[in-house]
Amino acid sequence: MSGKRVLVCITGASGAIYGVRLVERLVDDGHEVHLVVTEWGAKTLEHETGLSVDDLSQQVAETYPVDDLAAPPASGSWRLDGLAVAPCSMKTLAGIASGIADNLVLRAADCALKERRPVVLLVRESPLNLVHIRNMEAVTLAGAVVMPASPPFWHRPQTIEGLVDAVIDRAVSHLTGGECRFHWGT
Ligand SMILES: Cc1cc2nc3c(=O)[nH]c(=O)nc-3n(C[C@H](O)[C@H](O)[C@H](O)COP(=O)(O)O)c2cc1C
Repeated sequence: MSGKRVLVCITGASGAIYGVRLVERLVDDGHEVHLVVTEWGAKTLEHETGLSVDDLSQQVAETYPVDDLAAPPASGSWRLDGLAVAPCSMKTLAGIASGIADNLVLRAADCALKERRPVVLLVRESPLNLVHIRNMEAVTLAGAVVMPASPPFWHRPQTIEGLVDAVIDRAVSHLTGGECRFHWGT
């Protein structure tokens, strides 16, 4: 499979490990990974994994400040093969659903949707209120794939990574068009 250019966005929902494992899996698979982390994404990343944005930046092609609306991902003319928000907070989901593109995650997602590129949102909140559900409907109608950070158990995971990687596997498949590694049957 030829390498794709993928923008990974980490926001301030719980589950920063999803963003970390997504970066690692895409890089391992030979894709060109670009990164944006929101202010609260950076805080949850440190709190939940002990990693800093700088640590994660070592692995990727480029990391952009979330407030830089002149960075390449802020334009639809920048070549991009797919965008993931992992994990995706309800605030960022709301911003994407309403088209309020006032930070780089929201603007990049807005551009990816208008350019009809794959957009995968690993949303995380529980329970959901009607606003969350309606925002998920809105982004789905706009072309995004809403993928709750809700792991399966049929592959009998033994570790947290085993749980997370099954979700990430599906996200990568949507982003890059590759085959799933975790699949039922042959
Ligand atoms: C430890 C921690 C866990 C959080 N978990 C969630 C969560 O699972 N889902 C969510 O929507 N917001 C969660 N939040 C709240 C978001 O961080 C907050 O709404 C923030 O404004 C999101 O901004 P961002 O989307 O720009 O990162 C959490 C906050 C903290 C500090």
